[in-house]
Amino acid sequence: MLTIDLPFRTIEWKDRRLILLNQQALPEKLEYLEYTDYRKVIGAIKDLTVRGAPAIGVAAAYALSLASAEFLESVGKGYFKLMKKASEEIADARPTAVNLRWAVERITGLIKENADKPAEEIDKLVVREAKTIEREDVELCQKIGEYGAGLINNGDGVLTHCNAGALATAGIGTALGVIYTAAFSGKNIRIYSGETRPVDQGRRLTVWELAASGLDVALICDNMVASLLSAGKVDKVIVGADRIALNGDTANKIGTLNIAIIAKNYGVPFYVAAPYSTFDKRAKDGNDIPIEFRSGKEIVNKEKYEGIKGRIDVYNPAFDITPSDLISGFITDKGILNAGDISAKFV
Ligand code: MRU
Repeated sequence: MLTIDLPFRTIEWKDRRLILLNQQALPEKLEYLEYTDYRKVIGAIKDLTVRGAPAIGVAAAYALSLASAEFLESVGKGYFKLMKKASEEIADARPTAVNLRWAVERITGLIKENADKPAEEIDKLVVREAKTIEREDVELCQKIGEYGAGLINNGDGVLTHCNAGALATAGIGTALGVIYTAAFSGKNIRIYSGETRPVDQGRRLTVWELAASGLDVALICDNMVASLLSAGKVDKVIVGADRIALNGDTANKIGTLNIAIIAKNYGVPFYVAAPYSTFDKRAKDGNDIPIEFRSGKEIVNKEKYEGIKGRIDVYNPAFDITPSDLISGFITDKGILNAGDISAKFV
């Protein structure tokens, strides 16, 4: 297996502290922030200091490890009640990426199974499980990269959206994991990244991480996708996902649906790369996926519009649902799947 070393670390657990690369500060500043209070980690998930479905799952697992240390020291017998409350608060930090709730439920399930043990022992299990979730994510990204790289031909143009890279996971990323694996195994590819309005994960994060890792990338504004594809410059689109329903309907960063529709029009294959933790057994189809709406301040500063009579409203969904019939395949840790394979593989 190809070893890919990238020049930054998104999430690290060190001496019972969580260290996050501050994604709000990129690309201007490479800054690492330290957390010892789980409530502050919830804040970091909400304000996108850490973002991307797998990364917020790992951060949530470590947030529970921080909560565990706090409650163990200060309360003793109230441990279970306080952990339950903390786990609910953490799981509610953002609604769309299912990896967040998945990681929290994995840890709360473990706490329940071991409820007869002393809290000190459970605390050790919680931290161990969080580390396992992180390590597993690294391996899942590697597998996705290997499977996906097989789809990329030498000379291909590949378009991605948002950031589904190392900044969005504990490993090399999902969509970008495919791109890194193809590029570092010697394939010559032209990489395009959409800017990803409103908070510019593509412009600030994807092009930074690819270029910092030694790859060339071309940035486009989101409204240039049709022009780029009509010019024949893209052979494959690869994006990540925040939640995939059993029928293959996929929630991902707002604008993904536009790209899928345009890709269909120009006959360009459109792939979704995601680990098993992003598939939601409880979601039958896209209607079961909750969409996060974020503050209009991400789009416009209303204070700049002084002295006008009318009201300026903002519509700001952070994600959209791409129906499965627009998706050519799912690049997963279990191989390349069609929508019809999902139930058999993940339920
Ligand atoms: O709002 P964000 O930045 O958390 O949205 C991230 C995305 O939409 C990613 O494409 C998705 O989480 C997959 S990350 C491997």
